[in-house]
Amino acid sequence: MQTQILCADEKTIPFVAEQIRLGQLVAIPTETVYGLAANGMDSRAVEQIFVAKGRPQDNPLILHIATMQMWSMVVDTIPNDAKKLAKAFWPGPLTIILPHNGTVAKEVTAGLDTVAVRMPNHPVALQVILQSGVPLAAPSANLSGSPSPTTAQHVLQDMNEKISCILDGGSCQVGLESTVIGLDLEQPVLLRPGYITKEQMETVLQKKIQIADAVTQSLKQGQQPASPGMKYKHYAPKACITIIKAKKEQYYEYVNQLKDKQAVALCFAEDTARIALPYVVYGKENDPASQSKELFSALRKLDEMQANRVYARCPDVEGIGLAVYNRLLRAAGFRVIEL
Ligand code: TXA
Ligand code: MG
Repeated sequence: MQTQILCADEKTIPFVAEQIRLGQLVAIPTETVYGLAANGMDSRAVEQIFVAKGRPQDNPLILHIATMQMWSMVVDTIPNDAKKLAKAFWPGPLTIILPHNGTVAKEVTAGLDTVAVRMPNHPVALQVILQSGVPLAAPSANLSGSPSPTTAQHVLQDMNEKISCILDGGSCQVGLESTVIGLDLEQPVLLRPGYITKEQMETVLQKKIQIADAVTQSLKQGQQPASPGMKYKHYAPKACITIIKAKKEQYYEYVNQLKDKQAVALCFAEDTARIALPYVVYGKENDPASQSKELFSALRKLDEMQANRVYARCPDVEGIGLAVYNRLLRAAGFRVIEL
């Protein structure tokens, strides 16, 4: 089966919604990254997601909703904190974890007592959900372990012949996956940083949010992460990436004196004039939103260049920068050199 890219319009959106009702998998655009979507209430459909991605069965999925009523279908009690965050940030790149009511397919939650839910801020995604009439289970539409796709072409690279169609909605504005917050315990926990920052949520909730260890550290052997997805190697191109934590002048000096003829720099647009080796750019200095938007396509570009060893300039880790750093750190397998 050849995979077709369909331009999202008033004919293809109802077609894709119908495919979902029939239990098929389709790739759809969201504001964060492309998702591989199936009917979240249909176990057989959800099982296919794991097969297509090569995803470990114990890594639960996010349910995508278009109305607050769809949230109430799967969660009985929505606490005040959850209501406040939804009001402030939905539709948008924030996923909220709460105890579920048992109606959602167990393949979605990987058998956990909680379910992750978000309302995406993308007109095509919202229309597909509304027209199919069910919450959609949708992980990022990449092969497990690869960088998440931010264009329909990226999805095709990973999913060709595995799914029937990809709905093309252009390139994703945010570029990194949603922020994930756990509201199922005493204190809110940031499980995955994203475009909606910890500080923004603390302002809305008027309370402190804890950061899960796995956000900035590699897990010790045997340690269980609060969010199963955090234990897997992620976002990794074939090249071996090393993050260089240093002032920018030191970074230039370090990469320019490398004897390694195959080294490639992963840097910001402002750096290129100072770099004497091949490079790939991921956004602008002091502009974490642009870094977030470009990081995953930069990682795919490194594969296209067949880069072997990559030396990345470290982003600032404040605000959205924490999400950029979190993904880059995983892509680098936690290899960091501090100068
Ligand atoms: O932006 C996004 O969130 C994208 C787009 C397509 O919406 N989706 C996405 O899904 O990134 P995925 O499957 O690649 O990441 C879901 C993350 C995983 O790290 C998973 O472990 C975590 O959410 N997760 C899901 N359900 C959970 C739960 N009940 N408890 C803890 N973590 C959960
Ligand atoms: Mg993913």
